Amino acid sequence: MAINKVGVVGAGQMGGGIAQVAAVAGLEVKVFDASAQQVERCKATHQKLLARAVEKGKMGQAEADAALARIAYVSDVMDLADRQIVIEAVVENEQVKRDIFARLDQATGAGCVLASNTSSISITAIAAATKRPEKVIGMHFFYPVPVMGLVEVINGLATDPGVTQAVLDLSTAMGKTAVPANDRAGFVSNRILMPMINEAFYAWMEGVAEPQHIDEIMKLGMNHPMGPLRLADFIGLDTCAHIMNVLADGLHSERYRPCPKLEQLVTAGRLGNKTGQGVYKYD
Ligand SMILES: NC(=O)c1ccc[n+]([C@@H]2O[C@H](COP(=O)([O-])OP(=O)(O)OC[C@H]3O[C@@H](n4cnc5c(N)ncnc54)[C@H](O)[C@@H]3O)[C@@H](O)[C@H]2O)c1
Repeated sequence: MAINKVGVVGAGQMGGGIAQVAAVAGLEVKVFDASAQQVERCKATHQKLLARAVEKGKMGQAEADAALARIAYVSDVMDLADRQIVIEAVVENEQVKRDIFARLDQATGAGCVLASNTSSISITAIAAATKRPEKVIGMHFFYPVPVMGLVEVINGLATDPGVTQAVLDLSTAMGKTAVPANDRAGFVSNRILMPMINEAFYAWMEGVAEPQHIDEIMKLGMNHPMGPLRLADFIGLDTCAHIMNVLADGLHSERYRPCPKLEQLVTAGRLGNKTGQGVYKYD
């Protein structure tokens, strides 16, 4: 059965983007966040980004209006009761995700698929917080969701092949290419990306080069579209630090712990683009 009723939990950078892409693809979307302020911000961002898409001629006004009309912003997790899939995109913390999955297990119908957009946390561990581990799966989108074409799909130990197929089909319906990875800390993408970002913080901390020079060397020398420190700002420095800790715990190696320089910025509240300052300053 094709999925067309989608729930999103977490209306931040990722949840907002996932909701927008799903609505533009013609799916009915409900967005829930614990913070009413974040929900309002998400709604305003959807309006702004779709208006910009119309201005740029990427979609017609009627299409943008229809996409916005397909998104409901809800204030109670019970409002997700009628969903066929709920995609969770809250903070990268295993206990928070387990609590949310336990609540979603209660709130949604038995057939509902519960997906996590986690960047690194074990899907099997998240699934264990529910009574339906066979319906739990990783659906890892990339930032910014409307632009990036990949979804890394991660089966937990118990994930039903029918659920995997439904999520592969949903990813395609959302205009993305789904690629499978196994359930090991960081999967493929962040197992490789995050240690590189962490090393860039060490290079900065040890005075090897200034941030803009580290980024320029990696951009021009490695042909990366942006340098690792700027990318860290876009991902969110708190998210980067959380992922490094998940890698350290999950892969049983202290070499993955976040660089003290990264931790210092997080402690200072400089989380990157989303707070206006991280490694760099933003308007
Ligand atoms: N930022 C990235 O580039 C990126 C890429 C892929 C995956 N991810 C993953 O996506 C998830 C979200 O990341 P983000 O960058 O959107 O973070 P974010 O900080 O922008 O948003 C997180 C949202 O979760 C909400 N939230 C927190 N606790 C909640 C709860 N108990 N119930 C409901 N809502 C709650 C917050 O209010 C916030 O709106 C993380 O797991 C992250 O690892 C992030």
